Amino acid sequence: MSDTQLPLEIKRRRTFAIISHPDAGKTTITEKLLLFGNAIQMAGTVKGKKGSRAATSDWMSMEQQRGISITTSVMQFPYNERMVNLLDTPGHEDFSEDTYRTLTAVDSCLMVIDGAKGVEDRTIKLMEVCRLRDTPIFTFINKMDREVRDHIEVLDEIEDILKIQCAPITWPVGMGKNFKGIYNLYTDTIHLYTQGQGHTIPDDIQVKGLDSAEAREKLGEDLVDELLEEIELVRGASHEFDVEAFLAGKMTPVFFGTALGNFGVREMLDYFVDWAPAPQNRDTQDRTVPADESKFSGFVFKIQANMDPKHRDRIAFMRVCSGKYTKGMKMRHVRIGKDIKIADAVTFLAGDRSQVEEAVSGDIIGLHNHGTIQIGDTFTMGEEMRFTGIPHFAPELFKRVRLKDPLKLKQLQKGLQQLSEEGATQLFMPVNNNDLILGAVGVLQFDVVMHRLKEEYKVECIYEPITVQTARWVDCTDAKKLEEFKRKCADNLAIDGGGYLTYLAPTRVNLSLAQERYPEVEFRATREH
Ligand code: G4P
Repeated sequence: MSDTQLPLEIKRRRTFAIISHPDAGKTTITEKLLLFGNAIQMAGTVKGKKGSRAATSDWMSMEQQRGISITTSVMQFPYNERMVNLLDTPGHEDFSEDTYRTLTAVDSCLMVIDGAKGVEDRTIKLMEVCRLRDTPIFTFINKMDREVRDHIEVLDEIEDILKIQCAPITWPVGMGKNFKGIYNLYTDTIHLYTQGQGHTIPDDIQVKGLDSAEAREKLGEDLVDELLEEIELVRGASHEFDVEAFLAGKMTPVFFGTALGNFGVREMLDYFVDWAPAPQNRDTQDRTVPADESKFSGFVFKIQANMDPKHRDRIAFMRVCSGKYTKGMKMRHVRIGKDIKIADAVTFLAGDRSQVEEAVSGDIIGLHNHGTIQIGDTFTMGEEMRFTGIPHFAPELFKRVRLKDPLKLKQLQKGLQQLSEEGATQLFMPVNNNDLILGAVGVLQFDVVMHRLKEEYKVECIYEPITVQTARWVDCTDAKKLEEFKRKCADNLAIDGGGYLTYLAPTRVNLSLAQERYPEVEFRATREH
């Protein structure tokens, strides 16, 4: 592409992730999005071998079986003149810090909510992370083909718990067995649902005007009257969509449908590619980098092991923040001060796995990493700058590591240090003893670490429980106060894998007490890379 095309290419990018509680329908909706993006021919074709359902995004099981690499944690597909980048956020047990950090690499999110369950825990946590950057949120309320809860009640719950205003764009017509379609409040159009079209792109059968003869004929007098009343109520009780409020992360447009029945998804996607923001400007320590700046820059938000024991290679996922990547180009790896030539970055055009030669601001590329790249690293055309806002999150699960063979302590330390640099786990070394404590956000992280220590570093270890409930990174501008704090709280202090002082709290109460006792000391729940 020529330099004059670059700003247009950037403008048409839509880079997002789906946030949801397990089982809300993220995998199913991903599959439907890929269907509309022509990235797969038929939904359901991405089932796992043993009949276990796995959309293309479930890389761990899927790709291991197929023996291909990790290209599906990012899925790129064109839709309506736009180029969509969908970043997978591990959903189930494999929930980890990667999930959180992936949210720092997107410009918007799609929140999928189970209409029968409403707002659930995981969604609350993920929204907290979105809040850090006021990420614009689209909402899809799923499973309208089932008996679900009162919709207005669910919207109230979203507003109350997630503190975001709801602006319904579509509204379901009936539910469960009587689900008939959706009504667009802004175009006054009904889109009729036909069952049994979950695997293909359904025809869009429209009826113009809710209060029309055709609607009465198709839906019946009673349902239309009921709906007219309901819609009036909805209009009165909800917010009108305001694009500015949406872009500021204060309001979410809400869509209803069934991912399984592949209905309501397209209506949502059409608006999504239109309203969701193009690549946003990004802050570095010194300046803000405009997304359409012509000089290339990017940062690494995730590192993934190839899970292929024959290859020790990892892929570092980089969000391009400005300019464009071209095959074979040279870029500066700022942290280590080296210029490197990147000839074989992985790109992620779904359905077509051949290497694409270019990627622009908003896109994700995968760099082969032999251990030199860390999460948070910035790459530029030579400028000494570092992107900010790629956090470590305070872990909530802790275990003490014990070696099976005590002579392998060096390997263990090295392995844990490297795995923590990579972001697979967090390592804490208490100042008062020789324990090695691992912290994680998701429980599967522990299994992955144990497995990799064995396979890659040849050390076998066991985990022991430890009474630590949460961690906080601590700092204090008053050196004397800090010394006093360090002396008095030494039993709770540790150094993390990055060399930062951390307070390990055995209970939440203990943490609040420490915060009260040492008001000059800052206790932070996130630390930047
Ligand atoms: P997740 O990735 O968010 O965890 O959710 P996933 O898409 O795997 O969906 C969880 C379950 O909900 C699946 O059922 C899926 O078929 C079902 N589901 C998703 N969307 C809808 C919908 O619109 N309506 C209905 N009725 N069900 C939906 P499962 O029983 O766990 O899997 P399977 O046996 O159906 O494959």
